[in-house]
Amino acid sequence: MYTFKIIKLLDENKIKEVQRLLDSCKRPSDWVNGNDTFKGAEGTKSNVELYNPMALKKIREIVINACSKCEEYNNFTIPKSYTGCIVNKTSEGGYYNTHIDCAEVGDFSTTVFLSEKDSYEGGELSLFINGREENLKLNPGYCVVYPTGIPHRVKKVTSGDRYAFVFWVKCIIRDSTILDCYRELKSIKFDETPIEYQETMEEGLNDIKFKIDNTVNRLMRRFGEFAD
Ligand SMILES: [Fe+2]
Repeated sequence: MYTFKIIKLLDENKIKEVQRLLDSCKRPSDWVNGNDTFKGAEGTKSNVELYNPMALKKIREIVINACSKCEEYNNFTIPKSYTGCIVNKTSEGGYYNTHIDCAEVGDFSTTVFLSEKDSYEGGELSLFINGREENLKLNPGYCVVYPTGIPHRVKKVTSGDRYAFVFWVKCIIRDSTILDCYRELKSIKFDETPIEYQETMEEGLNDIKFKIDNTVNRLMRRFGEFAD
């Protein structure tokens, strides 16, 4: 069973900063044909990708910084490293046909929506997951993260411009069952009242939070792939 997650990643200020950077990239030379980075069949995609190195670097920094501070994102992906990234722009008539992302890019794919939803028509991200199609069109600053390797596409944009930031993450735990166990344990909520001094080791060992932390750590030591 595959799962995907929708997360609010960028606050209003950050999304405005990203949109300002995108607005500054008006020259044709700021963009390249999306097919330049695609190894599959010609015509699979019809879009452009941000080439301006300064703008791309700043946008990447904003998004990856937000990710590293987002507990929900980290508990879902357990990131070992962030790999490639692309800012793409899909204008009227543009699309990205059904495809899968290359295995080497990572374990999770993330699409961050950057445009106001009513500024373009069409352009839904469609994921084929667990035998059904999920069509997503999110507010700017929201992302969807899903397992790399599931079929997906971007439906044709019928008006306006759709901007998105796409990147990939390699996960420390690659076994999906162990990953589910990890997420389950990390999702347990505790009473946040600070604990008092424990008179004995025994008290500490029997503390429920300690037991769960200990189990999470043992899972990580046994199954975590920390080295690149
Ligand atoms: Fe893709």
